Amino acid sequence: MIELVKMETQRYPELELDSELHRQITELRNQCFPDHAVPRSYYKQMPHFRELIHNGKHLIAHVGLDYRTISVGGVSISILGVIDLCVDPDHRSLGLGGQLIKSVIELGQAKQVDFILLAADDQRLYHDNGFGAISADCSWLKIDEFKNYGIAKQRLENVLMIHKVGEKDWPVGPVDMLGYLF
Ligand SMILES: CC(C)(COP(=O)(O)OP(=O)(O)OC[C@H]1O[C@@H](n2cnc3c(N)ncnc32)[C@H](O)[C@@H]1OP(=O)(O)O)[C@@H](O)C(=O)NCCC(=O)NCCS
Repeated sequence: MIELVKMETQRYPELELDSELHRQITELRNQCFPDHAVPRSYYKQMPHFRELIHNGKHLIAHVGLDYRTISVGGVSISILGVIDLCVDPDHRSLGLGGQLIKSVIELGQAKQVDFILLAADDQRLYHDNGFGAISADCSWLKIDEFKNYGIAKQRLENVLMIHKVGEKDWPVGPVDMLGYLF
């Protein structure tokens, strides 16, 4: 049984990450997403922030965050996009994933953010933390290995999940990500 004292979540602007943190994130990310393993600390594009939890020197939990304006039904909505949330397999089911999600929600509530947004097939952790799934006609920039392939237009049924953290309600209408899909 792993002894886990409550561990601090630390927030890093992407620009402040040193090569050792990039190495640790790359290793953890590739371990947690083996079908999308790449020799870098992000999959398509660098995020704006990272939230990290270390156990001593060992990185055990990670989430990337993008702060972005998207368009929903023609209305601008400020979001924090959740990217590559992952926890070391030896430290799962201890509440660390929930700790990171709660930290992101609190950050959004404290700042100029309307919604936390993510895409997920397995939605349990997010439902448990107050997210709801939405369906919408969506468009986003397709990116693969440093090449863009133009704009995807597709209806996403119950793939995107949102959590309100500001005053605005989620507008009716199509979602334009104004960038890539996390
Ligand atoms: C999803 C993940 C981050 C959860 O981390 P965690 O520290 O175990 O989370 P918590 O302890 O706070 O909560 C655990 C609960 O999350 C839910 N959960 C488990 N795997 C999940 C998954 N892949 N996606 C969403 N929810 C998940 C379950 O309800 C689980 O409850 P259980 O422990 O009783 O089975 C971790 O399982 C992981 O890194 N998985 C691989 C990467 C991944 O799929 N990330 C999500 C991308 S959207």
